[in-house]
Amino acid sequence: MKFAKRMEHFETGIFSQLSQMRKEQEAAGRHVVDLSVGSPNIPPSPHVRQALIDAAGVGENYLYALSDTKELQQAAAEWYQRRYGVEIDPDHEVVSLLGSQDGLAHISLCVADEGDIIMVPDPCYPIFGDGPLIAGAKQYFMPMRKEKDYLIDFSEIPDSIADKAKLMIVSYPNNPTTAIAPASFYEKLIAFAKKHNILVLHDNAYSELVFDGASCGSFLAYPGAKEVGVEFNSLSKTYGLAGARIGFCLGNKEVVGMLSALKSNMDYGMFLPVQKAAIAAITGDQSSVARTRQAYQDRRDALRDGLTKIGWDVPRCKSTMFVWAKIPDGFSDSLTFTKELLAKAGVLVTPGSAFGPSGEGHVRMALVQDREEILWAVQSIKDSGILSL
Ligand SMILES: Cc1ncc(COP(=O)(O)O)c(C=O)c1O
Repeated sequence: MKFAKRMEHFETGIFSQLSQMRKEQEAAGRHVVDLSVGSPNIPPSPHVRQALIDAAGVGENYLYALSDTKELQQAAAEWYQRRYGVEIDPDHEVVSLLGSQDGLAHISLCVADEGDIIMVPDPCYPIFGDGPLIAGAKQYFMPMRKEKDYLIDFSEIPDSIADKAKLMIVSYPNNPTTAIAPASFYEKLIAFAKKHNILVLHDNAYSELVFDGASCGSFLAYPGAKEVGVEFNSLSKTYGLAGARIGFCLGNKEVVGMLSALKSNMDYGMFLPVQKAAIAAITGDQSSVARTRQAYQDRRDALRDGLTKIGWDVPRCKSTMFVWAKIPDGFSDSLTFTKELLAKAGVLVTPGSAFGPSGEGHVRMALVQDREEILWAVQSIKDSGILSL
């Protein structure tokens, strides 16, 4: 059989490989604490689940949705106004996504032709880089370095690249580095995008998971943002709806229109009961959001304090649901360390190399297990002796 060249970029995903490694350990009778995939274990609020159940009982809700209901568009606009102070035209400036992943995988098809340049951060959440490859575009990596608080430095990007680039993908609070960006960063981003006529996609999956009393808003709240770009937002982590697959693209109406047109040919719309659940989540009682934030902050503290105490000095991350840590001394690369950590301690993490060239030398630990499991993982890492090799 003959397959497309583009599939060369898509070997079995790292998370499937890690899951296979976990299964092998479990088949050998070992307990494994899985901190690899960021799949949240905090379920949605009862009123959100009830909305889904009620809608699932209605026969007409099994028709193709084809597009977003007016009620969903209106709810998203109200949510952006209430939460971020951003005005959204419900008819033209929002389209739902089957999770932000859907938008990230497909937006490049709307803006890039074969060989066009798309700028992505390094390190980054893998689909930021893979989406452009699906469209046949070329990636240009924008480094994010610890010494610069993981903020992209636009002055490092040559004009020859910036003038040609079609799209720039940016995301704070950031997965995997957990960095957050100040207002001045967004002002520079918008000015840079205007100067070079680049579309900006800001992925805002973690604005609600910001710790220690800090807060983050929306890229669209900055003057000029809508002229240059869109924001993706996800209900996966904020409302525990990861498996239901719902997110939004909001902002620039031309971009929203293009993506809607592409999606109307590709997926025929979101399951209507999921649209109902999303409406309940973003317009209903918001108290779960603060509880979820606190739960992740407590887990972060348990993992960070526990690991630091046993000799692995990891940072107290500012946001998201991850801890981004340097691999301990004595290990040459993140995959080797990940494999040894699993074999010796029964703890599964994601090697930093999965997030791009600059991710090497790090691992990402997802805070997706309860405190007891996290404490078990810390004790097991200590008992394994892996930190004193
Ligand atoms: C930065 C970032 N963007 C997007 C996604 C995908 O989210 P969704 O479940 O909305 O597809 C994730 C999931 O971990 C993420 O970390």
